[in-house]
Amino acid sequence: PPPVLVVTTLLPAAAQQRLDELPNVEVRQHRGLSHAELLAAVADADGLLCILSDAISRDVAQAGAGRLKVVSTVSVGYDHVDTAALRAHGIRLGYTPDVLTDATADTTVLLALLAARRAKEALAVVASGQGRGFSLSHNLGTQFTGKTLGIVGLGRIGLATALRLLPFGFARVVYSAPRAQDAHARAVGAQHVALDQLLAEADLVCVCCPLNADTRGLFDSRAFAQMKPSAILVNSARGAIVDQGDLLAALDAGQLAHAALDVTVPEPLPPNHPLVLHPRCTILPHIGSATIETRTAMANLAIDNAVAGMLGFPLSAEVPL
Ligand code: GLV
Ligand code: GLV
Repeated sequence: PPPVLVVTTLLPAAAQQRLDELPNVEVRQHRGLSHAELLAAVADADGLLCILSDAISRDVAQAGAGRLKVVSTVSVGYDHVDTAALRAHGIRLGYTPDVLTDATADTTVLLALLAARRAKEALAVVASGQGRGFSLSHNLGTQFTGKTLGIVGLGRIGLATALRLLPFGFARVVYSAPRAQDAHARAVGAQHVALDQLLAEADLVCVCCPLNADTRGLFDSRAFAQMKPSAILVNSARGAIVDQGDLLAALDAGQLAHAALDVTVPEPLPPNHPLVLHPRCTILPHIGSATIETRTAMANLAIDNAVAGMLGFPLSAEVPL
């Protein structure tokens, strides 16, 4: 019998068509599986194609143990996957780096500009009908000319973000990372500094690092206390890197000027959440990689990874477990 591939969601049109026409694979596609249904589905599957809102926990790995050969997530982040449990059961993990770097860096720049020019407040004035047109003194933001850019995590996305932002006139780029990223740093003239120094010096702080034990809650009250009151925080990585209660307190205490987030905990935030309502917090609904081109490429790469894993071939993009 052909290998069974469980797919937890619909794919973008072009990739969905390819999935529908996959030869020699039995595709079992679902939408909105509960965790219990996911456990049942993987119990007789050879491959699992999933997204970041599916918790691939120890019990999923256990449910698949013995037959499941590969988990293929349509994401670059894999903090939703219990990698130790996959390793213990000999299940491989595919992901989608590189293909989403440009789109995600674009979104990071979008957030930075929205924040710097106070677009949320400006759009609210238009929507309210209370605006009085041009004014020399209303809705004044800040610009990047001559400022310091701080990148937390100078990986692929951090580098692409810095490359996009440099032409805005930043005088200096600093980055923090557990290890120096010399090649990336050279490409944008970035200086490796401790996070504390980055927080103290950067006018724009872009979070481009993975969520892991070291970065969970990295932006807490201690971090916000070190930022410039005029600084902007952009997070296009994972919501849990920022302590949202501490962020709210810091915004209200004037410890930073604006936070622009593509990611939150939970997703979505309720519409009456104080950060959603806050004039100096801009929130997008996790659309970092959401372009037709990128989502199609991600889904195609995830299909490649799933098929290769089920057949026992090397994956196009595999997380070393
Ligand atoms: C999106 O957040 C991803 O990890 O691909
Ligand atoms: C993500 O893939 C990164 O390396 O920034």
